[in-house]
This record gives sequence, C-alpha cells and structure tokens, in this order.
Amino acid sequence: MAGVLDGLKFLSQSFRNGTTVGAVWPSSRGLCEAMVRPVVGGAGGPLRVLEVGAGVGPVTTELTQRLLPGDHLDVVELNPAFCTTLHQRFDGASPVAPIIHNADILEFDPGFRYNHIVSGLPLANFPAELSEAIYTRFFELLEPGGTLIMFHHLLGREVLRMFGGTKDRKRAQQLMELEERLAPLVVGSRNVLLNMPPARVLVRRRPFELDRRAS
Ligand SMILES: C[S@@+](CC[C@H](N)C(=O)[O-])C[C@H]1O[C@@H](n2cnc3c(N)ncnc32)[C@H](O)[C@@H]1O
Repeated sequence: MAGVLDGLKFLSQSFRNGTTVGAVWPSSRGLCEAMVRPVVGGAGGPLRVLEVGAGVGPVTTELTQRLLPGDHLDVVELNPAFCTTLHQRFDGASPVAPIIHNADILEFDPGFRYNHIVSGLPLANFPAELSEAIYTRFFELLEPGGTLIMFHHLLGREVLRMFGGTKDRKRAQQLMELEERLAPLVVGSRNVLLNMPPARVLVRRRPFELDRRAS
C-alpha cells in the first residue's frame, strides 16, 4: 500500500475532484506491478512509454524502476496538486526521470508515438463520449502493435449498471458496449484482489490499421 501521507493527499483530492480522481486510495503495489509487467522492450531500441493519470505516482515508481537508461517516460496528469507531488518525487530520478506534463490527455500532443501507454483513468466516471474520445486518442498515440495497459475496478461497471441512477446506468451500459467492441484487441488480463477495491488489468494491442469505429 502507498505511504499514509500519499494516501491522505490522494484522499483529499478525491473529495475535491471525485469524478476525475475516481478512487479513494492510490493503487496497491500488486496492482502497480501488474500494470507495468507488460512493459517490455524489443529489438527496436529504447522504449517510449506514456503514463496517463498518475495520481501521487505509485505506478510511476514501478515504471522508473523497470525502464532502462535511454528509455523515455512521459507522465500526463490533469490535477496540479498531484503534479506538484510528482515533481517533488521524480525530478532527477534514475535511471529514467519521467517528464511530467500537467495536462488533459485529450490536449496532449508529443509529436511522436509510444510503444506502451499505461493508464489509470477512471473511465466509468466519464460520459460515454469522453471515454470514446480518450480511447481514440490512446490508439492515435500508440505505435502500431503497441500496447495499452489499463485497470478498472472489478464489477464497478456492472454495479453501476444495475444499481446506479438512470444516467449512471446508461453511462455504464455505453462504456461496456464500447469496451465490447474493443474486446478483439485484448491480449492479456489479470485480476488483482489485493487492492482497494479489487481491480482488473487489461492489455490491448493497437492493430496496424486503425478501425475508426472501434478506436
Ligand atoms: C484512479 S486515479 C489513478 C491514480 C494512480 N495511477 C494510481 O493508480 O493510484 C486517476 C487519475 O487520473 C487523472 N486524470 C483524470 N482525468 C484525466 C485526464 N483527462 N488527463 C490526465 N489525467 C487525468 C486524475 O487526476 C487521477 O490522478
């Protein structure tokens, strides 16, 4: 589990910005390890990795330890308070210091593509059109054959669809339909029960040709 201080920082932002933060406590070590395990190099030289929605940085910590000198790590985080924490923690980190961008992923354009994107965005909280736009942006930002690694809270969508208000039910249904369309891209999945709440990591591979309806 994250340090108590980190947890309290996260909790306080969760109270202020519940929709975009989307959790009450940072991800557990086990979940963070499962998120970075698919980040592997190939014969193609240094890796370019993008983390989206880093919070106080538990996944970033694992990434900085996994990557090698020469690899490139960008971190895009919407919340300025989290960015302050990320700068304090990771500026000058070795062997790879992430470049922290205080930005909305939909407005972020590095001018190149990534081998891996790792994201903890709470899509179940977002309107369906926004989730669709985010998936589209993720696939645009990935190299063909690159991987998109995401987690969501286990059963979160199902509970929302069954017990939420009218708007929540519709949103959950639309998100599940969207993700069903993306199911052929899934190349790996793992449940992590030791997290608050338990979560599922999904790995999708960007096809060589982007199908506009699915991406
Ligand atoms: C569920 S938290 C995950 C935090 C961290 N990765 C973890 O696992 O503990 C989601 C994070 O996404 C960020 N976020 C939400 N919408 C975003 C957007 N459009 N662009 C970039 N970051 C965003 C939030 O500020 C928050 O830090």
